[in-house]
Amino acid sequence: MTGLQAPRGTRDILPEEQMYWQTLETQACQILERAAYRQICTPIFEQTALFERGIGEATDIVGKEMYTFSDRGQRSLTLRPEGTAGVVRAYIEHGLHQQGGVQRLWYTGPMFRYERPQSGRYRQFHQLGVEVLGSGDARADVEVIALAFDILKGLGLADLTLMLNSVGDRSDRSDYRQALIDYLTPYRQDLDKDSQERLDRNPLRILDSKDARTQEIAQAAPKLLDFLSPDSQEHFQRVKTYLDQLGIAYTINPCLVRGLDYYTHTAFEFQSRSLGAEATVCGGGRYDHLVTELGGPETPAIGWAMGLERLILLLQQQSSSPTTNLDFYLVSRGETAEQQGLILAQHLRHRGFRVEMDLSGSAFGKQLKRADRSGAPGCLIIGESEAAAATVQLKWLAQGQQTVVSQGELLTLDLRSHLDQAREFATEQSTSDAP
Ligand code: HAM
Repeated sequence: MTGLQAPRGTRDILPEEQMYWQTLETQACQILERAAYRQICTPIFEQTALFERGIGEATDIVGKEMYTFSDRGQRSLTLRPEGTAGVVRAYIEHGLHQQGGVQRLWYTGPMFRYERPQSGRYRQFHQLGVEVLGSGDARADVEVIALAFDILKGLGLADLTLMLNSVGDRSDRSDYRQALIDYLTPYRQDLDKDSQERLDRNPLRILDSKDARTQEIAQAAPKLLDFLSPDSQEHFQRVKTYLDQLGIAYTINPCLVRGLDYYTHTAFEFQSRSLGAEATVCGGGRYDHLVTELGGPETPAIGWAMGLERLILLLQQQSSSPTTNLDFYLVSRGETAEQQGLILAQHLRHRGFRVEMDLSGSAFGKQLKRADRSGAPGCLIIGESEAAAATVQLKWLAQGQQTVVSQGELLTLDLRSHLDQAREFATEQSTSDAP
């Protein structure tokens, strides 16, 4: 090897981990499609100006974290640090607003931020997100929150808290901004270094500093919630009432301000107590002015994005490893047996079964051990005598039952219900073995 490694902050997703990714995407997609969300894909790089205008020049993302480069035509391009700006650009560019009604979109893919890598924080990471464009109704806020809740619950993730806040509208925030600066300025020297810098540029972000002393100072700061106009208050009240009606618990966190400038009114995060510093698995909120800021018509909107690596860390921690979806492991030895095995495996695959064929040619014992480890409920064994008789040994690994059937007959058996029974048996075994 030449000593080449994946770039710092990136990671390979090896086959063992793929099941988590597939489970996550399949489950999320089912839940979203039931609520009439449609998938959209946008490019991985966009014009730099899109993010500068969309996310805000004063944010950390635009200020320090973007992967920006000039292409050979001297255009300034940036690897997308998030998905919302690109989706809004596509919404405007393709006139999706002209289709009338509300656009409910979802997306998934890699995002790029030049952050300091640590567990749960990468420079290339993946998000799954939704954007609902064209509704300012509080029911839209609650619909997206409820969908995130259902996806996270469906993954069996317990121990998550929904943090909720309203960051109001622009005029609420500009009054608040000044009050916050007035309160924080006497403490300037006590704030952490980042917060000192933010005091003039982006004081609201000081509220979610991780520094203990800054947090202590921020606790007693004026609250944005006290600066909301009657309309903003009413919107927030509706969101809370609908969440209560759906039985979705939340904690009001007046210090929750998100790291992107486009938010208005509802802001929320799902946080985990099991992830240490990088606790937010899903973040989002309303962004009623972004479409106009990027050149489109006035369009209220709301959305969220989940960090898939963080969700997978949680799934791994609770060791809810998704089981393999392999149906059969095929073991064969000897020229004729191997040829017959090759053909039988193909026939089964054509009938929709998932079959892994052992290619090692090693002793039966070794092949059978691999069959046990494969997680497949069924094992098909063809040795010399089976090959001569054109039969196959069909072994249900968990139950330990074994029968001989002709290779032709195997294809006519109701293998699906046998597989279901074998999987049920294996699940019962593993739960009764649990301490
Ligand atoms: P965000 O809070 O910047 O929001 O990112 C959403 C989620 O992406 C975070 O909660 C976290 O789980 C994950 N994430 C962010 N940065 C990293 C990283 N460096 N490594 C691993 N995971 C990370 C947005 O991106 C908004 N576009 C969400 C949104 C959609 N708001 C409205 N619509």
